[in-house]
Order: sequence, then structure tokens, then C-alpha cells
Amino acid sequence: MVPEVVQCPVRPFDGQRPGTSGLRKKTSVFRQPGYLEAYVQASFDAMGGIAGRTMVLGGDGRFFALEAAQTILRMAAANGATRAIVGQGALLSTPAASHLIRLRGADFGIVLSASHNPGGPDGDFGVKLNLANGGPAPEAVTEAIHARSRTVDSYRTLDSGDIDLSATGTTTLGQMTVEVVDPVADYADLMAGLFDFDAIRALFAGGFRIRFDAMNAITGPYATEILERRLGAAPGSVVNAVPLPDFGGLHPDPNPTWAAELIALMEAPGAPDFAAASDGDGDRHMILGPALYVSPSDSFAVLAANAHLAPAYAGGLKGVARSMPTSSAADRVASALGIECHETPTGWKFFGNLLDAGRATLCGEESFGAGSDHVREKDGLWAVLLWLNILAVRGEGVAAILDDHWRRFGRTWYSRHDYEALPQEVADAVIAGLRGQLATLRGHKTAGLTVTAADDFSYVDPVDGSVSMGQGLRVCLSGEARFVLRLSGTGTEGATLRLYLERHDTSAGGDVQTALSSVAAAAEEIAGIRRITGRPAPDVVT
Ligand code: G1P
Ligand code: ZN
Repeated sequence: MVPEVVQCPVRPFDGQRPGTSGLRKKTSVFRQPGYLEAYVQASFDAMGGIAGRTMVLGGDGRFFALEAAQTILRMAAANGATRAIVGQGALLSTPAASHLIRLRGADFGIVLSASHNPGGPDGDFGVKLNLANGGPAPEAVTEAIHARSRTVDSYRTLDSGDIDLSATGTTTLGQMTVEVVDPVADYADLMAGLFDFDAIRALFAGGFRIRFDAMNAITGPYATEILERRLGAAPGSVVNAVPLPDFGGLHPDPNPTWAAELIALMEAPGAPDFAAASDGDGDRHMILGPALYVSPSDSFAVLAANAHLAPAYAGGLKGVARSMPTSSAADRVASALGIECHETPTGWKFFGNLLDAGRATLCGEESFGAGSDHVREKDGLWAVLLWLNILAVRGEGVAAILDDHWRRFGRTWYSRHDYEALPQEVADAVIAGLRGQLATLRGHKTAGLTVTAADDFSYVDPVDGSVSMGQGLRVCLSGEARFVLRLSGTGTEGATLRLYLERHDTSAGGDVQTALSSVAAAAEEIAGIRRITGRPAPDVVT
């Protein structure tokens, strides 16, 4: 018997505005009766309905994802979707979901994740919508979802129970076909086609030691399959390899603060040759060598400079793109290669058009994100594999490769200081204070530096002409230095201020915070973050 379609009344909820990366809220907010349903119906409506469409569905396995997946499947069937392709156990990393959408010609995908934010009943949950190109819905769509969420008064669902997502296979839900697929296989095949797996296999066979920390999140099964089974890294190289609903209490954000154990391992004698970590949904990466942390902006620049060593990029790059707050290290590589370099607002959704139009092959963000035109998301394991491919071909370690890069291009000193969970009005006051000075800052001297330009970044998409304003306050300083200040669009508690510091010179060695001390002093004198917030220091430094 085909289950009945039912129309359930629901009230609109405030604040269903997708941020930098989907709608992210406390899990308890998502679990309110009707909250998820109202948002999903608003998303379906904002896409012009989903009748006859194919959906990809998965996520990072966090608490509430299985329940949410069943709800979304019933709603998709009731809204007329003809097919749902679901990762087994409702699991799919963000890049694997992007790939599956493209591989299967699906119309859209939903990824259940709050990325690197902690999970569990007291943690965070999130819903990300990707379109047919495999990339995050662009602003026009996310704004349409928000507009619809304010008026939605009912949702369509099926009067039916849960279906089995624990085993692969095909079944039906109402009129919709549900295909439960292995979340790893297609993605692993994609990686095998991009990189020189023989060279990487030979590297491991020669005794090269790696540690990959999956942080109890989604990349465990992917990394185990690819690094250990297909490439022959020693068993046990992948740690925290089983995705857990609460990430085992870890904060699955691959940075020196939250991956402290991995950092300690790499600082200790006998450290492996290479280490990496990924985040909740598998799109971020952190790279480490023995006693060496590679800043994400540098990692991206090194990948751009050496990508041609991997088969997929042997023909060269069409261009690169980076988010505005990301350091200019990649720009220097682009200029040496004679290729286009684009500067976009923060968030992967701004790279989609450039990738689709063939204007960029590699994209990167300072927030531990890099990726290429193989999918339309950033991709943590892809970055790790490209590093391994480069290490294998060059026959050098991480330190030698970085040193050589700095000697060739100079060093772009870079750091981000985050002030988290501030009262919204305090964070707003800091932003308003700096914004109010932008027009008159030019020529201002402080901490031995002179302001050369100051503005509020806005972006005109070169492909479709769309304009995005208010994307971060930039203050350029003499000595190839600058600082940028913006509010996070992914937090769920109060407001987070991000201060990005950068300075370029020709030296190679030294301590990053010391090298940036004059830029930090200038930022404090001008923007007064510590003065206004009363916080003596940032909460997270990367
Ligand atoms: C943060 C990062 C940004 C990234 C996003 C999603 O957004 O800064 O680069 O794209 O997470 O991973 P933010 O909180 O700064 O808005
Ligand atoms: Zn993520």
C-alpha cells in the first residue's frame, strides 16, 4: 500500500537564514517540533519545488542526523521527488556528497552537518543545500529560502515509518525510489583517478610514516579505505577513525587548538613524516610535518605551485581563487604561473561560478579549506592526497618543500585571531567602530606602519555579475601588511570576531606571532578589539 501524502500545519520560525555554510543552529533548536520540517519545506519551495527531481542525502553522522534523514526522505517523497540517493547510515562527507551529485546527475543534495562544530544534544546541527553542480546553493537561493521560511505555514510529508538505511540496496518510499549506497567507494575511485597512487604506494612501501586524525568524524572510513587499504599506509595510521554521533566529545576542527594531541605527537621525538587531520564533515584539512605546522594559506600556495606534479593537474591550472581574508601567498604563485587569481568573499559558495566557468582550477581559504574543480566543495582528503603526491614525486619532506617555497616566493606571515561567543552588541560595536573610521584611515600612522587603504570588501562575481556587499573590513598597511576584521557567519553562540593578520617579506624562519606583532599592534590601536570587548587575548589562534 502506498502511504498517504499529508499536509501538516507548521509555523514559521525566526532566524532560518543560512549563513556562510548552510543553516547551523544548536541541536536543541533543530529538534523543536516542526523546525526542521519548516526549513526543509522552505528549501524545496525556494528551489521551485522538487517534483520529478533526484536528491542526494547524507551527512557527517552527528547526533540527530539519522532522525533528520528519515524526516527529509518522507518530505522529499511527499513533495514528488522521484529518487533519493542516500549514503549508507545517512553518511556522506561533504566532498563525497558533492561528487555523488555530479556523478549521478542529481538535481540537488542535502548534507546534514554543522561542519567542525561539536555535535550531540547540547552541540550543533546543520543542514546544507547543494545544487546540481554539486556546490553550495548560491546567495540568491539561500536568500530565497530565508524569505520563504518567513511565510511557510505547512509542509508535505508521508504517513509512513522509517526505512532501513543501514544496508545498501534499493527500496521505495511512496512513489520515490530510495537507493542506499556505499558512501566511500565512488569518492575513493575519484581520488584514484586524480592522483598518482602508484607513486604514493611506493612512498609508503619505502617506510614513509603518516598519521591521519579523523577526529571521530566522517573521514575515518574514507581515510582508512584510501590511505590504508588502497595506498598501503601502515594499519593504524588513521586514528579516531569511527564516526561517532558526538565525535567522542572532541571538537572536530583540525587546527592547533582542537587537534592538540596530533600537534604534540608531531613535536615529539620519533614523529611520523607527515600528519593531517580533517573536520566533522571532511572538507577541511590541517597539514603537519615533524615539528612543523603548515598554515592553511601556505598549504594552499604550495598546492597551487606543485599541483602539476599530480596527473589531474599535469596540464597546468586555469586559475586560482582564494577568499579575501586568505593570505596573498597564492597570488604570488598565480602571478609566477601567469594565471588568473580571484579574490572572493568568505565561503565556498562563491567559488562555484569560477569553477563551473573554468576560470579557476584550485580554490582555497585560510580556514583549512582547499579544493579543486573535481567537486564543488572544499575537500580535506583531496588536499592530503595532493600533498602526498607532491612529497612522493619530489622525494622531499614537508619542511624542505616549505623552505623552498618561501625562498622562491618570499614568506607571507599569516595568523587568524578569533574572539568567540561575544555578546552580539559588543561584536557589533567593534565592527561599527572600525567601519566608521574606514573613510579617514588612509595616511594614519601606528606601530611603525602607515595605512595605505581601507574599505569594506564587496565582490562582483565575474561570471554572473551578482554583487555581494559587506564582506569584511580590510585595512592595508605599509610593508606589504594588512589586517581584516569580520564577523563569523557559522557560529551558534553569540558572535565571533575574526581578525586576520598578514605581512610579506623575504625571510623564511622565525616565529609567526613575533613577525606579525606590529600588524597586531596596529589592529588593536585602530580597531580596539581588546579594549572594547574586555578580552585580554583571542580564544583561538591559527
Ligand atoms: C568559516 C570560515 C570560512 C568557511 C566556513 C565554512 O566561516 O571562516 O572560510 O568557508 O567556516 O567552513 P565563518 O565562521 O568565518 O563565517
Ligand atoms: Zn567542514
